[in-house]
Amino acid sequence: INGSKNAALPMMAAALLTDEPLVLRSVPDLSDINAMCEILGELGVHSSRRNGTLTLQTKDDSGWIAGYDRVRKMRASVCVLGPLVGRRGRAKVSLPGGCVIGVRPIDLHLKGLTALGAQVQVERGYVHAKAARLRGTTLYLGGAFGSSVTGTSNILMAAVLAEGTTVIEHAACEPEVQELALLLTRMGARIEGVGTHRLIIHGVKELHGTEHLVIPDRIEAGTFMAAAAISGGDVTLEHVRAEDMVAAIETFRQAGVHIEEKSFTCRIVSNGLFRPVDVVTLPYPGFPTDLQAQTMALLTLADGISVVTEKIYPDRFMHVSELGRMGAKLRKEGNCVIVHGVKKLNGAPVMASDLRASAALILAALAAEGTTEITRIYHIDRGYENIEKRLNALGARIRRVLDRKLIEVGGAPASPPKAARITRMPLKRKTSSR
Ligand code: EPZ
Repeated sequence: INGSKNAALPMMAAALLTDEPLVLRSVPDLSDINAMCEILGELGVHSSRRNGTLTLQTKDDSGWIAGYDRVRKMRASVCVLGPLVGRRGRAKVSLPGGCVIGVRPIDLHLKGLTALGAQVQVERGYVHAKAARLRGTTLYLGGAFGSSVTGTSNILMAAVLAEGTTVIEHAACEPEVQELALLLTRMGARIEGVGTHRLIIHGVKELHGTEHLVIPDRIEAGTFMAAAAISGGDVTLEHVRAEDMVAAIETFRQAGVHIEEKSFTCRIVSNGLFRPVDVVTLPYPGFPTDLQAQTMALLTLADGISVVTEKIYPDRFMHVSELGRMGAKLRKEGNCVIVHGVKKLNGAPVMASDLRASAALILAALAAEGTTEITRIYHIDRGYENIEKRLNALGARIRRVLDRKLIEVGGAPASPPKAARITRMPLKRKTSSR
């Protein structure tokens, strides 16, 4: 399992907080990471990469603008806002806008910066923020859908160089935020309460460079767990932190998947028969929204009715109609989807709408009878490095058809009864390591 994309992205923005080199190890090779390098490049941060190690260093700190063209392609680029205002005293960053998983405002980011004393204005699609030096204060970062992951990261990066002490109430405590706090501490920041909903940051005058190993990607690990499960396989994942995945592991176990946790490895054994489970997405340590689509793919084959409730992004259900094209029986009611398990799925032409929905379609296709063609697969490359290569190494049959921008997933052979199909097409016992 690779280093975490969502941990690496804000950490990369932390390079704006010092002139010294920031060395991040185990950074995945993804289009989102490349996009962040480009945004940082325009802000004077030089990046170089070798074998998963990314070195970032500020060479020119005169820039402060992150334009629409780049920010609209990757929402996490809004994480440059906090460090820019905190260190360079001003920022002009495009509003990221909504996306296919729903409306994604940044009001909490702006509220936090304003509380720290920045003058913040939104004009013609851009956030303009400036402050000679930010001042510590107590601020509340809760919103209608709970805490904000990148909102907390942004304000944390703004507060580390502020004058005095900042208290962030209702901070997000996702492992990715904890890791950012750890990185900043290594850079010389003074942060208390890491892993809780109250972060206390004592501002310092300057930060220095450091080296940091990015944590394993819990969402990629959960996706591979679901792949092993849905195909009735026996797969051992290496470089996993099971302690970050308690809700997901518990849910897969309730569905009947056998999971053995050891230090940094997880073995998943499945007979391809699943019990229905109700799933509710919540902020960490609750069940992650980023595994909702993949888990729904699994539950389409469960023996009964499951209810999947989305409490982070109420509209994050673009995969529902596509799974329906493959024979799944799903009914959307507000922010819930009622999943009536079916005996089998069928391969079909389907379209990926976003990163996790693409993963869900690949999983469904692994179990489906016949071949599935998935278009718009550039979404998958944003968050999974070489997914077809890695799944093929485990026994899947996935082909990337470059000119048609699609992948074909050869599912289970036609006709045999479910039990036979599962023994004939499992992902093999093999180690998926990187
Ligand atoms: C992060 O997005 C992740 N992205 C997302 O990963 C993930 O789905 C999400 O957290 C939730 O876990 C990165 O880490 C780069 P939020 P983020 O701010 O920080 C509302 C993936 O597939 N909200 O925690 O943008 C918001 O609309 C993805 O890798 C406000 O109302 O999410 C949502 O309902 C996509 N106002 C909820 O809070 C704000 O100012 C949580 O969003 C900010 C957020």
